[in-house]
Amino acid sequence: MHEKKIFPDTFLWGAATSSYQVEGGIENTDWAQGAREGKVPLCGTACDHYNRYEQDFDIAKSLGHNAHRFSIEWSRIEPEEGKFDEQEIEHYREVLRALHARGIYPLVTLWHFWLPLWFSRSGGWERKDAPEVFARYCTYVVEQFGDLCDNYATINEPMVFTGFGYIRGKWPPFYKNSFLKYFKVTLQLIRGHIFSYKNLKAKHPEMKIGIVKHTVAFSSNGNPFNVFFAWLFNLGWTHLFMRRVCEYADWIGLNYYNRKIFGDTRVLGKTDMGWNIDPKGIYDALHILWKYKKPIYIAEAGCADAHDRFRADYIRDTVEGIGEALQDGVDVRGYCYWSLLDNYELAEGFEKRFGLVEVNFDTQERTIRPSAFVYRDLIKSLQQP
Ligand code: BGC
Repeated sequence: MHEKKIFPDTFLWGAATSSYQVEGGIENTDWAQGAREGKVPLCGTACDHYNRYEQDFDIAKSLGHNAHRFSIEWSRIEPEEGKFDEQEIEHYREVLRALHARGIYPLVTLWHFWLPLWFSRSGGWERKDAPEVFARYCTYVVEQFGDLCDNYATINEPMVFTGFGYIRGKWPPFYKNSFLKYFKVTLQLIRGHIFSYKNLKAKHPEMKIGIVKHTVAFSSNGNPFNVFFAWLFNLGWTHLFMRRVCEYADWIGLNYYNRKIFGDTRVLGKTDMGWNIDPKGIYDALHILWKYKKPIYIAEAGCADAHDRFRADYIRDTVEGIGEALQDGVDVRGYCYWSLLDNYELAEGFEKRFGLVEVNFDTQERTIRPSAFVYRDLIKSLQQP
């Protein structure tokens, strides 16, 4: 892979975070409410990234990153319905300036799982007007950021949100097996994305607007039954959703963590999440999304590995899988490792550690893990002319 130049000069290399998982001090959301009720772990100050973003971006720069994906906290921007907080807008404008000052290109996600309390309490995505309410927020943010950012994702992992919130009952709004709500909310998310996309593009055709899709790569050992199962699962998990939105996306974000090969009896090593260590499956996931012939940014791919035992290999293999997809002609534009920092891993709390950078949550001390340097050197080698 290293002999020929496969990665274009414009390829983006970096890492990702999301507001609630790293910022700290976010109390006005359904997740914070769920934590107060003992249904999910407390998040508290998290990585205090809200105050330490400059230090964290210095680290990202020192690691050779030229891109950073992060999310805007809706509950900060619109703490009450229809009331927008200009100071918080200014905060994120500062964050964007800090990235530009370091030569790091921002990829902004407008919504990553957590809802402002006023929205969740009034029905959340079940609200009839949820798509319009969401689009109003998105449009406000994009207009306020102006030329500080030209690349946005509306929604992160819509079907993970509905799966955990309405079927598995593990995340807000904590419904179990509520299939009707699941389908209703999925449709609302599709509408929310399309509505926002159309609004934004009508006013700002120059903006690049995408959506981030968690993609499990289902494939098979070739046995006809297994081929059928793989087809069915890809349809159910990825294509039924993507078909509805692909016309309204300038790019697609891929979040890759798992591959399932039907009929495969190999036993793979596990990450600290208990997930198979199978980074090369990103190649299959990229091909699944390439069906839509839109540029793809890998918005997340990474592993929980508290002792940094296999992260370096995981990253190497991920990058190799991306390289192979590029060679096949898949238009991959960038890779953001999940995550820059150890952070609040949702229902798992702070125990699972995905970070290139270790965070001591008592002292907020940052320690760069050895694998982060391996990633840095890999980036450097692949950028060589
Ligand atoms: C989510 C992240 C999460 C990561 C690891 C993705 O599904 O977007 O918020 O931390 O997976 O579980």
